Amino acid sequence: MVDLLLGLQWGDEGKGKIVDVLTKNYDIIARFQGGPNAGHTLIFDGNKHVLHTIPSGIFHKKAINIVGNGVVIDPVIFKKEIDNLSAYKIDFKSKLLISRKAHLILPTHRLLDAASETAKGKAKIGSTLKGIGPTYMDKTGRNGIRVGDLELENWKDKYNALTKKHLKMLNFFEVDIQYDLAELEEEFYEAIAVLKKLTFIDSENYLNQAINDGKTILAEGAQGSLLDIDFGTYPYVTSSTTTAAGACTGLGVAPNRIGEVFGIFKAYTTRVGSGPFPTELFDDDGKTMATVGHEFGATTGRPRRCGWLDLVALKYAVQINGVTQLMMMKGDVLSGFDRLKVCTSYTYKGTEVTHLPYNIEPENVSVNYTEFKGWQADLTALESASQLPENLLAYIDFIEKEVAVPIKIVSVGPDRKQTVFR
Ligand code: IMP
Repeated sequence: MVDLLLGLQWGDEGKGKIVDVLTKNYDIIARFQGGPNAGHTLIFDGNKHVLHTIPSGIFHKKAINIVGNGVVIDPVIFKKEIDNLSAYKIDFKSKLLISRKAHLILPTHRLLDAASETAKGKAKIGSTLKGIGPTYMDKTGRNGIRVGDLELENWKDKYNALTKKHLKMLNFFEVDIQYDLAELEEEFYEAIAVLKKLTFIDSENYLNQAINDGKTILAEGAQGSLLDIDFGTYPYVTSSTTTAAGACTGLGVAPNRIGEVFGIFKAYTTRVGSGPFPTELFDDDGKTMATVGHEFGATTGRPRRCGWLDLVALKYAVQINGVTQLMMMKGDVLSGFDRLKVCTSYTYKGTEVTHLPYNIEPENVSVNYTEFKGWQADLTALESASQLPENLLAYIDFIEKEVAVPIKIVSVGPDRKQTVFR
């Protein structure tokens, strides 16, 4: 069976940490969508690592890590990630396997991303500018270049033809994007040479065989459900299916092979980039969350917007994904608040609703809160569920009842060790 681990908000929930914590239970960790727009942070033994494309199981001795067909790979960033892990003496050839059907991000995809965002002006998505949108556009437009193409004689012809087309498209945007293509290509070809030294596989075949052999697999999601191309806050979303169904298409495993669906959420909410965020705070409470929670993007360093927990949105994500177990992250960041708020319904065009409506822009939606007493205790040294403060337990109990799914892990700090199991 394949278990899934998914972010239920706008990304940055702490998926990397939990995959790292859970990896000891799995033979294979597989990424199924997104690309280097993701930044999965892992902290252990006093070291911090940010992974972008490489699955978060890479630090464990045993696990095989797979980059699935649904992922888009920027060879340049991929090479840097591999270089950054050199101290760990990881045998990448045997531990990191790449799907031949994964698409490649070309230097010109990044340029197109930048041009598209600049041309949008105030309406920009707030993209990470990693070329994600243009690469998925080429995938669905049936123009993309895939990892498996690198094994074919004519891949450079394909590359040149697509790059030529992208350069024409760049002119269409009529914005001033500075670049030196020769320099970008030199870096790109160097990185391709590194990529080609890794093992390419027909990953759908590999994974289905592994399932038949009784191997345990964890599919690691990137971004979050509210950034899903279909179910997120469109158009302020990413270009892939971040929800459970994306694991089926992004790995080639059938729905009846999916086991547990682990849903991760922060005890509050954050969002980086543009788009509606009904519980966003512009006051000191929001600033406290940002400061205490170190809320800066792991990929871009941008400050994250912060706000109260939104149960309307969380219930929606739980429903779309079929979540079976919840994991609540960053409970420690809320220590010290006198009162906490949780959004339990919206007022949508004058009527109270408890489901996520079509449009959640501020002109259509206002939020209704339930208040809770805060807790003062520092949680970061807690080791067992019996030590959780009473007011935090009341908070957890309320969420579990509203969402009707148990919270099995409460994370009380970024380190692998700061994890309380319930
Ligand atoms: P893109 O996927 O880089 O095009 O970005 C689209 C939107 O998704 C922007 O608002 C980004 O800030 C957001 N986004 C993309 N990847 C992540 C992530 O890993 N965490 C949080 N937000 C993300």
